[in-house]
Amino acid sequence: MNVRAQMSMLFHLDKCIGCHTCSVACKNLWTDRKGTEYMWWNNVETRPGTGYPVGWEDQSHYQGGWVYDGRGELKLRLHSKAQGLTRLFFNPALPDLEDYYEPFTFRYGDLFSAPAGDDQPTAIPISMITGEPMNIESGPNWDDDLGGSNIYAKNDPNSQDLPDSVRAQLEEIEGVVFNYLPRICNHCLNPSCVAACPTGAIYKRGEDGVVLVNENKCKAWRMCISACPYKKVYYNWSTGKSEKCILCFPRLETGQAPACAHSCVGRIRYMGVLLYDADRIPDAAMVPDEALVESQLDVILDPFDPEVIAAAKKNGISDDWIKAAQNSPVYKFVKVWRLALPLHPEFRTMAMMFYIPPLSPVMGVMENNTLNLAVDARGPEFELFADLSKARLPVKYLANLFSAGNEKIIEDVLRKMLAVRIFKRAETVDGAFTDEAKSALSEVGLDPETAEEIYRLTTLPTLEDRFVIPPYHREASIEAWKDPLEHKGLTGVGYIQPPVRGE
Ligand code: SF4
Ligand code: SF4
Ligand code: F3S
Repeated sequence: MNVRAQMSMLFHLDKCIGCHTCSVACKNLWTDRKGTEYMWWNNVETRPGTGYPVGWEDQSHYQGGWVYDGRGELKLRLHSKAQGLTRLFFNPALPDLEDYYEPFTFRYGDLFSAPAGDDQPTAIPISMITGEPMNIESGPNWDDDLGGSNIYAKNDPNSQDLPDSVRAQLEEIEGVVFNYLPRICNHCLNPSCVAACPTGAIYKRGEDGVVLVNENKCKAWRMCISACPYKKVYYNWSTGKSEKCILCFPRLETGQAPACAHSCVGRIRYMGVLLYDADRIPDAAMVPDEALVESQLDVILDPFDPEVIAAAKKNGISDDWIKAAQNSPVYKFVKVWRLALPLHPEFRTMAMMFYIPPLSPVMGVMENNTLNLAVDARGPEFELFADLSKARLPVKYLANLFSAGNEKIIEDVLRKMLAVRIFKRAETVDGAFTDEAKSALSEVGLDPETAEEIYRLTTLPTLEDRFVIPPYHREASIEAWKDPLEHKGLTGVGYIQPPVRGE
């Protein structure tokens, strides 16, 4: 057992209000510089929709992530090792600026310097690339709230393989329901960005699993950008280096939550430590699609298990970190309660940011592609609990996002969340733990205490409940502060070598 620690973020999607505060917090802190204008290390997408860059999930176009051949070999989708050499100077799988958007500002000075006249002065848009006036045709959240059209829902890569009736439901209801998907780098366990870099400039640091670009080593090959299936590495055209979300490691190292998490208005984000067994990664990444979620969960270890604790200590993981892993809200949601899932496990990078899929406001149910008020007099939870095909976001669609198409996993998560709602409705409306609530909980394998804790951590968490960040003990190695990227002892540059590099 090779125990490592990972700082992980969890997103509770039912709580996201799509306000983009997280994106702006990140932008102000990290990408407010020349060459980074178009970068949104944190972005928030409306779903169904096409996202940023447009259609990033379509790997037949972008060529990101890994492909498993079913015979014990995992290869980069981008290219084999030999192809990688021949393509060093021509990488056909890079997103264009149009796939992101042309960044713009406005000529605000016109508002102040315009001469007196009959018309109100306006600030015209200016390209931040050319400095010339431009027509704005796109933006990082151009499909926000579906942008008044169902074209984004129609082009969502996750809905293309759905049966016609399910697609119709998604597209018909686009005016009625959607949800938001905040995204950052997933600081993956099997990162294809790391494997694709010809100069070894990207690494996963040993102590907390944060994936970083060493700017001193980066030679602008940009294979990382193509190989990341989440399109979360960006090229800075001004410095000629790649950049990406750093999980706000300078904040983490001083005990603070990342800026996107700290500023989150909906309080949807949780931070915590997960312990995992690095030796299990190769096998876990090479199972059939439908088994990927389970195999990834098997890599995450029980921080209360004495054997795990002993192996963690042997690997230099401190008591503080083991305690933090035991108190981790991410561990509870992901492994104990099995309510949170990685985004697109079929990319096989083993994403370590997790999502609780949205149940959507349970005010109504879908029938014949129309949103109706629930008819079950006991409450809409009961109607959905009995028949998830009435969910506002189709189960199959959520399965394409969070479980590599495995609908059973999504059904289990949604029914657990509904059972908790039924339990709390009984308590607050009926004033009793009714037989119906008892049977709903037992059907999904929950007891009242666990349901209460899920409810409390979902709705009423304190700051300390949401962000369990252990001390980094940087004071023990003050030398490391001078150049943390180069200090091998501190950063544990021996990141997890992906199982098989592209042959
Ligand atoms: Fe690398 Fe994963 Fe982050 Fe993409 S999401 S940049 S593959 S660590
Ligand atoms: Fe940006 Fe920090 Fe959030 Fe990463 S963790 S998206 S760098 S604010
Ligand atoms: Fe490597 Fe990406 Fe730089 S491939 S060299 S980190 S641009």
